[in-house]
Amino acid sequence: MTSMQTKRLVVFDAYGTLFDVHAAAAIHADRVGPDFARMSASWRQKQLEYSWTRSLMRRHADFWTCTQEALDWAMALYGISPANGLRGDLLAAYRNLRPYDDAGPMLDSLRAAGFGLAILSNGTHDMLRDAVTAAGWNDLFAAILSIDDAGIFKPDPRVYTLVETATGVDPASTVFVSGNPWDSAGAASAGFRVVRLARASAPPEYMFASRMAEIASLAKLPALLGC
Ligand code: LAC
Repeated sequence: MTSMQTKRLVVFDAYGTLFDVHAAAAIHADRVGPDFARMSASWRQKQLEYSWTRSLMRRHADFWTCTQEALDWAMALYGISPANGLRGDLLAAYRNLRPYDDAGPMLDSLRAAGFGLAILSNGTHDMLRDAVTAAGWNDLFAAILSIDDAGIFKPDPRVYTLVETATGVDPASTVFVSGNPWDSAGAASAGFRVVRLARASAPPEYMFASRMAEIASLAKLPALLGC
């Protein structure tokens, strides 16, 4: 991994990498009920499914729309009433998702070491602004990029070109970090140097995309990048 030590731009996926997508349901677990973890998993899976199917059908709607439609489906699946403000409270919590504990210290380390930091996410500009503001990270990122500017979701290759357009750094000189294997594959396929975050062990997949470095925690990233 020594070659990565010369790379100065690090781009992060947002949801599932920096921000814990299951924090919203966890905060309201007492109201969601005993199926809160399963409901949250379905919410996430449907949110992603809708992003992929809309992209393939050329029926784009933004990620906030996919997030709401997915929540409605997941709540219906588990018979959870959207009444009493629970739907709205879950969505509000999604706008202020808790970052993973290992994210903030890692970002501070990379910043102190002189790396440029950026986000490239399916999230809308408004969603990303809310999440970054809630985390207290407003001054950390050189660029916060939304697929809204490509009009299609990850892993369409056009999404990943937003990084070079915005920063002037070519993909081969960019380190891309994602906890979503399909996003890691998309970024690798688009020519980035990819660090795949695998918080839980899982079988290898997307072997065609290219070789990727792998870490089990964001805390491992600074050392991997030579800090
Ligand atoms: C994102 C999706 C992968 O943040 O959650 O782009």
